[in-house]
Amino acid sequence: MVTPAELAFGRTDLDDAQLGHLQRLLGTWGILADLSFSDLVLLAPTVPAEPGQAVPGANREAPSVHADELIVIGQMRPSNSATVVQHDLVGQTVAARDWSLAIQTLETGETTRGELVLEQDGEPVQLQCIPVRHDGTAVAVLGRLAAGTGRRPGHLERTYRDLFDRFAVMLMESTFPFPSEEVATEEAPRVGDGVVLVDDEGRVRYASPNATNALHRMGMYSQTEGHRLSDLGIEESAIEWALASAFPVVEEVERRPDVSVLFHCIPLIADNQVTGCLVLMRDVTDLRRLDRLLLSKDAAIREVHHRVKNNLQTISALLRLQARRLPPGGGRVALFEAERRVRSIAIVHEILAREPSDQVPFDEIVTSLIRMAEDSVVLSRPLTFEVIGQLGEVPAEMATPLAVVLAELLQNALEHGFPESLADGEQDGGSGSGQELESSLRPGRIQVHLADLGDQLALEVTDDGSGLPDGFDIDETQSLGLSIVRDLVRSQLEGTITMVDRRSAAAGDGNGLELEGTVVTIRLPVSDPPQ
Ligand SMILES: Nc1ncnc2c1ncn2[C@@H]1O[C@H](COP(=O)(O)OP(=O)(O)O)[C@@H](O)[C@H]1O
Ligand SMILES: [Mg+2]
Repeated sequence: MVTPAELAFGRTDLDDAQLGHLQRLLGTWGILADLSFSDLVLLAPTVPAEPGQAVPGANREAPSVHADELIVIGQMRPSNSATVVQHDLVGQTVAARDWSLAIQTLETGETTRGELVLEQDGEPVQLQCIPVRHDGTAVAVLGRLAAGTGRRPGHLERTYRDLFDRFAVMLMESTFPFPSEEVATEEAPRVGDGVVLVDDEGRVRYASPNATNALHRMGMYSQTEGHRLSDLGIEESAIEWALASAFPVVEEVERRPDVSVLFHCIPLIADNQVTGCLVLMRDVTDLRRLDRLLLSKDAAIREVHHRVKNNLQTISALLRLQARRLPPGGGRVALFEAERRVRSIAIVHEILAREPSDQVPFDEIVTSLIRMAEDSVVLSRPLTFEVIGQLGEVPAEMATPLAVVLAELLQNALEHGFPESLADGEQDGGSGSGQELESSLRPGRIQVHLADLGDQLALEVTDDGSGLPDGFDIDETQSLGLSIVRDLVRSQLEGTITMVDRRSAAAGDGNGLELEGTVVTIRLPVSDPPQ
């Protein structure tokens, strides 16, 4: 979506470097609104409506421009005093007639002051217009709008207004905003956080009440004015850096195990000399504490999954070792099966260790389970595995039982659909003569269909192998594998499962298609995701 500000930017007659300069100003000028206790608007000349009057871009080299119309490209309210502009002016064009002061500033490059009646509000307000120069060219006007106050300003107010005037000089001398993006906008400080003004030698000239509080929290109770913060025991090099480099510097100072204060040091420049530094201090202790908590909770969950996965892999390796030592037969098969089940659970934890969350990308688990099934195939018969569709994210508590179910079904498809495809010792009493049969066997196919139907998940495991034994009924079978599957699907996942021999299904259809093998269909209800 294009914002009014972006639209307004598009209507100006400025090049990219100039627009970048103004954009950086808009990223940091909250400070200026607070220091001046005023509403600020940023005005730029629009592209001349009629061609021939002026050539777009013609103002680039000229020190000033001529404009008939200005467009408001930014507006900022002070956070420490009442606003005098009730409306959103961004994107509006203002007629030269009403804003003649701004036009004058743009043309002469001089600051102007006067009164302005904002149409909608009626009351006249004080207007100060300051030229914003980029590389010496006046590219925009900063309008400062404030209600006139009769009373004498206090110490804080005088200091702030003074500071604003120093920034105004910087705007006119093209030294503010700073040419790099040093100032992080998401943590852009406001004056209310606490202000310390230091001179060109780094000595404190003024500390606002909030800054004093922040210093107290850092354990510094002595008088600051006239002293360097470093002399008072706060080791911060940020101020020295800012003074030396004439660039803003941000540094986080940690004190007394638990206090974190962000120092935002903005050098003040006049006539190409650094004359001092504005230090905005923001107590970020609570923020950091929260960050740390979140971080450690996340890391802890990751770590737990990681350890669970490692332990499961160890168990699985032990079972495999033990199985290999047994002679072929029931015991050996049982151990290999147990080993496989443990491994299918480890796969889920492996993914959770990488991205601990309430939702697990199940399609990755499917890929790993299929790889696991493929590993147990010997090349006596070509077999292809296919995944059709996807489930997307699955609630974490569903992922483990579902992975176990799918592993079991894939194994059955291999083991019973294509009994000759398994390595000797892992199958339940096959003939073991796979090698000789190789050429006569057609390729087998195992498919996994996945679909997220909104209120339920659909899974189907299909093979075109030998099909179910006569009289097979999933509700009757006592064997361990399908008992586990039945129990997990019906009790834990609250879903349904059917197993059908495709020959009998095709016969019922009467469509004459020659299908072979088995279809297992599972439907699982999903409750609405949290939030
Ligand atoms: N895809 C399949 N194709 C043919 N028969 C199957 C298939 N899946 C399961 N069966 C039948 O169901 C029986 C029970 O399976 P299961 O409970 O997993 O035990 P096991 O795999 O240990 O034999 C199998 O012995 C087999 O006869
Ligand atoms: Mg089985």
